[in-house]
Amino acid sequence: MDIVEAIRSRKSIRGFKPDPIPKEVLREILDIARRTPSAMNTQPWNVTMVTGEVLDNIRKGNIEMVTAGVERHPDLPFIPYEGIYRQRQVDLAIQIFKLMGIAREDKEKRAEWMQRGGRFFDAPAAIILSIDRSVDKLLPHLDIGAFAQTICLTALNYGLGTCIEDQGIMFPEVLRRFTPIPESKEIVIAIAIGYPDWDFPANKLETKREPLENFATWCGFA
Ligand SMILES: Cc1cc2nc3c(=O)[nH]c(=O)nc-3n(C[C@H](O)[C@H](O)[C@H](O)COP(=O)(O)O)c2cc1C
Repeated sequence: MDIVEAIRSRKSIRGFKPDPIPKEVLREILDIARRTPSAMNTQPWNVTMVTGEVLDNIRKGNIEMVTAGVERHPDLPFIPYEGIYRQRQVDLAIQIFKLMGIAREDKEKRAEWMQRGGRFFDAPAAIILSIDRSVDKLLPHLDIGAFAQTICLTALNYGLGTCIEDQGIMFPEVLRRFTPIPESKEIVIAIAIGYPDWDFPANKLETKREPLENFATWCGFA
């Protein structure tokens, strides 16, 4: 697949077919993603692949936490967005809820949607990315971002869809209960992965982007 076509066609997938992903395909994707650049070639990513019973247990654990009203407490503290960034977040939610037929005042359905994130959107597999707590706090996180994008783009080549998500890692102890991720590793982000269900309404979402003029500054050009 052409790289520009891949970048333009990638979108977050929040509804998947139940079909399992062959382990060999996931291995190939990771093998390609290993070429991601990283600061000083430190390659700080640790990858935990989860599927089957392990993933189902994590889903259950997350939902139990949410329904018990436990506050989210990811390894990486979440700082609420403000101003234009908050506005974009709200705009995204409005778009998704409209597609899903969820009314603004329908607290129950909104809560159900939040739980979907905790269930990794019912994807057949999930990728958990973590970094060693001994490494610097800035550059490795940039590296993980690049690694995640490489996975998402590569996945397209195999007909797979992805959603980078932090909803699935809101309760790190749940992930640690069912995987060998130690306390010494910070869980940074997850990626839900699977074959897209194109009939799922939220997969029809076309997210907006700011025009170049709003974020690019050109210096020294004619
Ligand atoms: C770091 C990061 C965290 C994200 N967390 C979530 C999440 O928890 N739930 C979700 O539905 N989407 C999540 N997303 C997906 C974004 O909402 C999505 O990338 C954005 O709206 C742009 O849409 P697109 O990916 O379809 O282009 C996340 C994306 C990133 C990069």
